[in-house]
Amino acid sequence: MIIGVPIEIKNNENRVSLTPGGALELIKRGHEVYVQTNAGLNSGFPDEAYEEVGAKILPSIEAVYEKAEMIMKVKEPIEPEYKLIKKDQLVFTYFHFASYEPLTHAMVESGAVCLAYETVEKTDGSLPLLIPMSEVAGRMATQQGAKYLEKPIMGKGVLLGGVPGVSPGKVLVLGGGVVGTQAAKMAAGLGAQVTIMDVNLDRMRYLNDVMPPNVVTRYSNEVNIRELIPHMDLIIGAVLIPGAKAPKLITRDMLKEMQPGTVLVDVAVDQGGCIETCTPTTHENPTFIIDDIVHYCVANMPGAVPYTSTIALTNATLPYAIQLANKGWKKACQDNKELEKGLNVIGGEVVYKAVAEAFDLPYVPVEKYLA
Ligand SMILES: NC(=O)c1ccc[n+]([C@@H]2O[C@H](COP(=O)([O-])OP(=O)(O)OC[C@H]3O[C@@H](n4cnc5c(N)ncnc54)[C@H](O)[C@@H]3O)[C@@H](O)[C@H]2O)c1
Repeated sequence: MIIGVPIEIKNNENRVSLTPGGALELIKRGHEVYVQTNAGLNSGFPDEAYEEVGAKILPSIEAVYEKAEMIMKVKEPIEPEYKLIKKDQLVFTYFHFASYEPLTHAMVESGAVCLAYETVEKTDGSLPLLIPMSEVAGRMATQQGAKYLEKPIMGKGVLLGGVPGVSPGKVLVLGGGVVGTQAAKMAAGLGAQVTIMDVNLDRMRYLNDVMPPNVVTRYSNEVNIRELIPHMDLIIGAVLIPGAKAPKLITRDMLKEMQPGTVLVDVAVDQGGCIETCTPTTHENPTFIIDDIVHYCVANMPGAVPYTSTIALTNATLPYAIQLANKGWKKACQDNKELEKGLNVIGGEVVYKAVAEAFDLPYVPVEKYLA
């Protein structure tokens, strides 16, 4: 198969969909890989690194789309890319269709096969191509929180780890899933006193078993949250209710209960946020202050660490990309139910129910194409 790797043109997106190591794995299996010049540069991979493993460099995005049978990307295609996508071309990337109607219409009109990273699903319901980015965001949440606790950037002036003779900082993590676990692990590693709150008792039992002694779990409810927040230095929002907006666990009136300079990092901001006063921010302007409380609410946190994020993402996508390249999308999806779940749009028809329902479009069961 001919695989194309275009440069990501969405604002501030520095990741690339395939590393030179990934390109080599595909080439070894008899496939051809075409990479747009400088596509990997911001992730630490110059053109020469791809050429060394046998990939070919193309000068323009148009050339990559023209050549490829399968386009591998990171972010959803944006408007200038719509016209480049060809009928029957396989596009394997994050789409997040339900959140943007024009993209859905454009992909339906293109006649392409759109296989979305975010809906590839394991039999246990986990989302293997979303987990790596949650891991990155969780670890970053603590790192960013520690930074914004510094006084010159309006924080309380607390060193999370403390020093001999001075108590460490206190961190509250709301939600003990992928993001929350990674955030808690980092905070605990720095020496902070960490509380994880969740509503899932089995999850808290597990966390209680695996976390170090400076991490405790508490059931998440309003009384417990109100009791803890006046004592916290850093509060990390990492709650998710699948398919729904995140519940507002920290309300506006609670800010008054916190000490000035407390830092709030709402990682769940991409699902509406679990802190009422959080609205999405960017890496250029990541924070704002309300009632002397620092808010960090960047909606695409992994974008700031493209080197790590690219490798984490491609570690997860490559096994699927190899199956798609070896077998073609139809056979690969017939053989692997996880990949089948990723199919959203095929040949002008929406085959993912939630996307069809979101925009009142006709829904065609994917079996029509896989039977
Ligand atoms: N900002 C970013 O760059 C970025 C990056 C990756 C993920 N995210 C977001 O981070 C959020 C968390 O993702 P995840 O992968 O950790 O999800 P997850 O499903 O692994 O974990 C969510 C946890 O929240 C818990 N929860 C549900 N209701 C709760 C409540 N009322 N109180 C406390 N806990 C509650 C669940 O039991 C679960 O353990 C999602 O909204 C995700 O989209 C954001």
